[in-house]
Amino acid sequence: MSRRLLVAGNWKMHGSMQFVKEMMAELNSSLPAKINYDVAVFPVYIHLYDVITNKPDHVKCGAQNLSEYDDGAVTGEVSAKMLADLGCDMVLVGHSERRIRSNEGNEEVAKKFAQALKYGLTPILCVGESLVQRQSGATQTAVWQQIQAVLDLVGIEKLGQGVIAYEPVWAIGTGESASAEQAQEVHQFIRSQLVLNDDTIARRIRILYGGSCKGSNAYELFSMPDVDGGLIGGASLTAQDFMAICQQADKLSQGV
Ligand code: 13P
Repeated sequence: MSRRLLVAGNWKMHGSMQFVKEMMAELNSSLPAKINYDVAVFPVYIHLYDVITNKPDHVKCGAQNLSEYDDGAVTGEVSAKMLADLGCDMVLVGHSERRIRSNEGNEEVAKKFAQALKYGLTPILCVGESLVQRQSGATQTAVWQQIQAVLDLVGIEKLGQGVIAYEPVWAIGTGESASAEQAQEVHQFIRSQLVLNDDTIARRIRILYGGSCKGSNAYELFSMPDVDGGLIGGASLTAQDFMAICQQADKLSQGV
């Protein structure tokens, strides 16, 4: 089954109104109108509206987080309903920076995943092991526990409506990407576990790689059989770097 590549830029806590203006102008002028892969960007909440109203139609926009609740006395949080109302298409859930800094546990992440689907947003479930876990041979256990929690809450059908992003914590923002083989090994493991639940869904779901992905390594990473694109941090912050990754996805999507 051929899966469309997805190049997703997670801007994290970067940017400004001017940055958004410039990035949208660049995307509008540089990204061809017809592409055989998908592109998405994830600005901070307060820049979402500007991105949504100025992006090219075929670029998706998502938030970096959402509340596990519908609405109510939850100061400082933003609900899935509000994101959908604004025009968001997607949302990141369980990014390691939130798991670590905000103590988001597997159950909370699973609730957020369910909440996104309830309001028609596509959740990107971020999973990944720490350096200590990798060094002690616990990569598969750590990654699968994070996915299992979502599976337990929503079931395989609904998990299949989202996207998974494998982001080894040790590769995020370090300049040291996982090798294409290391990424493939984990992606293949995830897919093989999902096959045990539903073969069709396992083959259809997109699994992105994230962690120091850039123009120079994107082709090699995305050409792995179970790597379906990337979740890009640092290299999504300039149009030039981001477009360099998009160009690699473009080549692969045309079989070059
Ligand atoms: P970097 O590409 O900066 O390593 O960040 C990856 C990431 O965390 C994307 O969500």
